[in-house]
Amino acid sequence: MRGRFIAIEGLDGSGGTTQIALLAEALRQPGAPGGPWTVHTTAEPSTGPIGRMIREALGGRLDLGDGVLPYLFAADRQDHLEREVEPALAAGHAVLTDRYYASSLAYQSLAAPLGFVAGLNARFRAPDLTVFLDLPVEACVERILKRGAPRDRFETEGTLREISAAYGAALALLADRGDRIAHVDASGTPAQVHARVMEQVAACLS
Ligand code: TMP
Repeated sequence: MRGRFIAIEGLDGSGGTTQIALLAEALRQPGAPGGPWTVHTTAEPSTGPIGRMIREALGGRLDLGDGVLPYLFAADRQDHLEREVEPALAAGHAVLTDRYYASSLAYQSLAAPLGFVAGLNARFRAPDLTVFLDLPVEACVERILKRGAPRDRFETEGTLREISAAYGAALALLADRGDRIAHVDASGTPAQVHARVMEQVAACLS
């Protein structure tokens, strides 16, 4: 069976981590579309050496400028694909990643031209589906504050507004290029959002 690769995207606070967990559980069930699936959940930045370096930098514990980040994220992506994603896809699994190259096109285009970031990411395998969890910035800020202090340099309201606009441009570029992208309303309860996500995923998997 061919593996499937699904990326979940969205602003910090849009609920990606919760939705990945719910989606993974649903795809493991006997009645799952095209399944049941063996599911491999993962995330970027990855747990590999470059991913760890990125998390140090985002948390302010490692002094690396915004100009370095697009290269690090691309290097981490290559490592993540080789080490984790490609082997799982080759084994026929459903691979769900919390963030992928659309995040680079959105977040890193705050400090570098979008075309440059897109070029750095042009050779990576396209996901079978990218689900964008669409939630207004105010709601994201509310959720971020609820879980504690902002954790990294991208989690302030002003920056989230810029990233929201950048996601718009990034996803339009990827859709033009032929990527399959589903915009999902991420307001409401986790179960309500999950139902909307499943609708899109089912269309892709069955
Ligand atoms: P997260 O674990 O909260 O998703 O944190 C990852 C942070 O890294 C998040 O603020 C988005 C950011 N990021 C980028 O800037 N570029 C990327 O390519 C990826 C994957 C994440």
